[in-house]
Amino acid sequence: MAWDKITKKNFEKLHNYENYDKENFNKFLKENNKDMRFFIKEIDEKYLPQIMQIQESVFEEGYSEKLLRRNSFADFLEVFRHHHYVLGAFSERALVAFAILQVHPENNEVLLSAGKSQLASKSSVVKTVIVKKEFRGYGLQKRFLLEFEKYDKKIGNLFELCSVAPDNSHSLTNFLQSGFAVEKKAKLYRKRSERLILCKSL
Ligand SMILES: CC(C)(COP(=O)(O)OP(=O)(O)OC[C@H]1O[C@@H](n2cnc3c(N)ncnc32)[C@H](O)[C@@H]1OP(=O)(O)O)[C@@H](O)C(=O)NCCC(=O)NCCS
Repeated sequence: MAWDKITKKNFEKLHNYENYDKENFNKFLKENNKDMRFFIKEIDEKYLPQIMQIQESVFEEGYSEKLLRRNSFADFLEVFRHHHYVLGAFSERALVAFAILQVHPENNEVLLSAGKSQLASKSSVVKTVIVKKEFRGYGLQKRFLLEFEKYDKKIGNLFELCSVAPDNSHSLTNFLQSGFAVEKKAKLYRKRSERLILCKSL
């Protein structure tokens, strides 16, 4: 493929292309919009082992369970069995980040503590966003949130909610800059962890 012919449209093909010329590929990425460094797509449960690995690497780097909820393999499996929309970001065919949207989240703690359970059929909850350490700083969390907003609008949802530990400044900043506003403080996860509940009207 000629390098000047690469567009966003055929970028997916390129990411899946086995024998590409790495040197030219990296040169192309440097010269172009950094958005194109990653390819984002919906993922299914075959990515569960990688999702677990990415989550565990965050705890190895020093994040505490107070700052970030630690999901078990079974929790993640639930996600794929029920109504969720899961996105992955890929760099050179490897999953480097993921984000989970729980769609119409009837019994979700975030929705309940925001006092919006009556809106379950019109809401979704951003459950988790994790970017591998070496791939941070490219705005991936905000890109995931943009994709979630597109998806929610398409299915007619009116609200998005999320919960963030008050000390998780990077995530909190991204949610606020993406149009979420703090609704209240609450204790979640068997009342063990303090969280800010944020909401966005679509
Ligand atoms: C929160 C998170 C998803 C943000 O990742 P991201 O979208 O790549 O971050 P951004 O592109 O907004 O980064 C903006 C800046 O903050 C820095 N940054 C982002 N997360 C950081 C972190 N955890 N520690 C230190 N610096 C961080 C970036 O390097 C970048 O710096 P720069 O402008 O000097 O390059 C990521 O930090 C993460 O995966 N954290 C662990 C899991 C987590 O807390 N998830 C959110 C749960 S609600």
